[in-house]
Amino acid sequence: MHEGTITAFPLCLSLSLSLSLSLSLSLSLSLSKMEPSSYIETQNPQEVEITSHAPKLQQHEGVRRTSSNDKTEGNTINGLSLTWKDLCVTVPDGKNGGRRSILQGVTGYARPGEILAIMGPSGSGKSTLLDALAGRLHSKTRQSGDILVNGFKKTLAYGTSAYVTQDETLITTLTVRESVYYSAQLQLPNSMSKADKKERAEITIREMGLQDSMDTRIGGWGAKGLSGGQKRRVSICIEILTRPKLLFLDEPTSGLDSAAAYYVMRRIAKLDQHEGRTIIASIHQPCSEVFELFDNLCLLSSGKTVYFGHASSAMEFFALNGFPCPGFQNPSDHFLRTINKDFDDEDIEQGLSGRKPTEEVIKTLIDSYKSSTNYLEVNNEVAEICKKGDGALEKKKNHASFSTQCLVLTRRSFINMHRDLGYYWLRLGIYIALSIGLGTLFYDVGSNCSSIQARSSMLMFVASFLTFMAIGGFPSFVEDMKVFERERLNGHYSTGAFVVANTLSSAPYLLLVSVIPAALAYYLTGLRNGFDHYGYYTSVLFSCMLLVESIMMIVASLVPNYLMGIIVGAGIQGFMILGGGFFRLPNDLPAPFWKYPLFYVGFHKYAYQGLFKNEFEGVEYEYNEAGVRKIMNGEHILRDTWQVEMSYSKWVDLEVILAMVVICRVLFFVIIKIVEKVKPHLSGLTFVVPKKQVMQVSVKPLATPSH
Ligand SMILES: Nc1ncnc2c1ncn2[C@@H]1O[C@H](COP(=O)(O)OP(=O)(O)O)[C@@H](O)[C@H]1O
Ligand SMILES: [Mg+2]
Repeated sequence: MHEGTITAFPLCLSLSLSLSLSLSLSLSLSLSKMEPSSYIETQNPQEVEITSHAPKLQQHEGVRRTSSNDKTEGNTINGLSLTWKDLCVTVPDGKNGGRRSILQGVTGYARPGEILAIMGPSGSGKSTLLDALAGRLHSKTRQSGDILVNGFKKTLAYGTSAYVTQDETLITTLTVRESVYYSAQLQLPNSMSKADKKERAEITIREMGLQDSMDTRIGGWGAKGLSGGQKRRVSICIEILTRPKLLFLDEPTSGLDSAAAYYVMRRIAKLDQHEGRTIIASIHQPCSEVFELFDNLCLLSSGKTVYFGHASSAMEFFALNGFPCPGFQNPSDHFLRTINKDFDDEDIEQGLSGRKPTEEVIKTLIDSYKSSTNYLEVNNEVAEICKKGDGALEKKKNHASFSTQCLVLTRRSFINMHRDLGYYWLRLGIYIALSIGLGTLFYDVGSNCSSIQARSSMLMFVASFLTFMAIGGFPSFVEDMKVFERERLNGHYSTGAFVVANTLSSAPYLLLVSVIPAALAYYLTGLRNGFDHYGYYTSVLFSCMLLVESIMMIVASLVPNYLMGIIVGAGIQGFMILGGGFFRLPNDLPAPFWKYPLFYVGFHKYAYQGLFKNEFEGVEYEYNEAGVRKIMNGEHILRDTWQVEMSYSKWVDLEVILAMVVICRVLFFVIIKIVEKVKPHLSGLTFVVPKKQVMQVSVKPLATPSH
């Protein structure tokens, strides 16, 4: 009977678990399949893709924004105007506690239905300006100046603005269709039907010209998928699903070839022609066709404004100051070349020292801009927008409900865990190998007294090292956290939904990873007979793995990268194993630190004692002493050999571990919430009080729902 159980039991368990896993997986996959939907004629991507690859100027006419005055008189005014005045941003210098300026007195505006391009050499402060405008500056930075939305200081409501960051953080195992569709389900309100959400997702994918890659996986390290440019377009797709009124794009065209860059920018521009969307994009090196799409241009050099005004007038400004754009040269190339001082030394080496030093050129341009009519116009326009502005911002858009968020996130995370080999599958393989190793090492330990030490060591190994290895999924979790961070900042869903979804989606895998290897080790070793004892032993292993994952979640929220996270996580567990009461018995543990608090705070104490009680309680072992047959009972082993606390049952030990799981998950939630709430205050925002009534004096990252 013993041998039959050894082989049949794990087999049955693994079969039933794999079956249930694949069943739920196929269910979620079938749910994620979208029928092709008809797309709106005016947004037909073919219309974009088929046009000549050398678009003529006339082609832009259809795309170019109408001027802001037309907009004001038209019916598209319900957009958002953003103005900033004398914006300064500083960061700690590292030397003598000083601060370095990144932005210095930048003033400008962005109006509905227009694209504002922020250009400048790398390091000139483009991303910093975008971050400041979106309220996303790093906590160590300080900013001063006025940032007003329609003339008021306000926190932008969810769905009114979106930010596409420079680096793509996407779930690499999903296809384009899945990524965008899941995102649509998360972001769009419950009042919208599933079919409408699918259609919105599909239309958006087509708008970004990704219709041919719909079923391609995004791909990442180790698995090739989309190209860099395509990933960028997927990121844009996800952020424009809710049709936000204000769109921040950090270098949306970097990594795209010139034709793709043109089409993407044209799409972005055209999308909002009638919606009055405000777009602020930092652009590295636009080709002339893309440049034609911009309404306004903000040219930065070392954090100072070199030019702000109509993009079309920039050439004139440069020419007036003695730097005319040579014929046949791309104006943006000319501007950047003129104000890039990073390579002055090289110019001198190449005998181009006859040229004015770039530092001087920049100074001339900045001074000239400050005394130009452009500068006056910008200030007037900012004042005008503030004067006209009404506090009536667009109403907060609704999210999907909390339950929908949990459901969609669970499904998405479940699929990701299934496809990412490193998340659980690799661990399952290693666990099985280790369990077979354990099983053969302690094979059929027998039931005499000498087996007590072997049983204890085997249980100790299971409770410490098998659970210890749960940190193996940490790198994958860190990738998940990056996606969560991006989506949280853009307010796609609540932190609570993420915690619930992560717990629900990982539980079946952890069950699989604990049940099969645990069964192998248990039955090969020949631990205590009885399914209830095996059940308890597996439950402890499962709860410990859940707990280690929860501890690693907390580590991930506090430690910036996965290498440091693994080291910190392993260190924490190392201490807990040492202080668990096995290597040094509880009464021998030094009182400060090891006994109080570590012995009681670490989960290993409860795991060891629970497993030992499960194994030895109520069992009698025979032994021979000087030829006399004697009996040692389990209680004696527990109390005297292992100094186990016998005042409560093994179930209390299991309950304590489960309570720790809940506490850790809640703690993770609280840490994220604290970081979210405290960060804006840490940045030491020192706003100048505007002339108008102050409605809210803090700029938060785009509001996150507060479930
Ligand atoms: N949090 C920060 N701490 C220190 N320096 C920073 C920080 N953020 C930006 N910088 C510095 O500010 C300058 C402008 O950065 P950034 O806005 O990213 O430039 P761009 O996007 O134009 O390439 C760079 O020199 C960068 O090193
Ligand atoms: Mg940048």
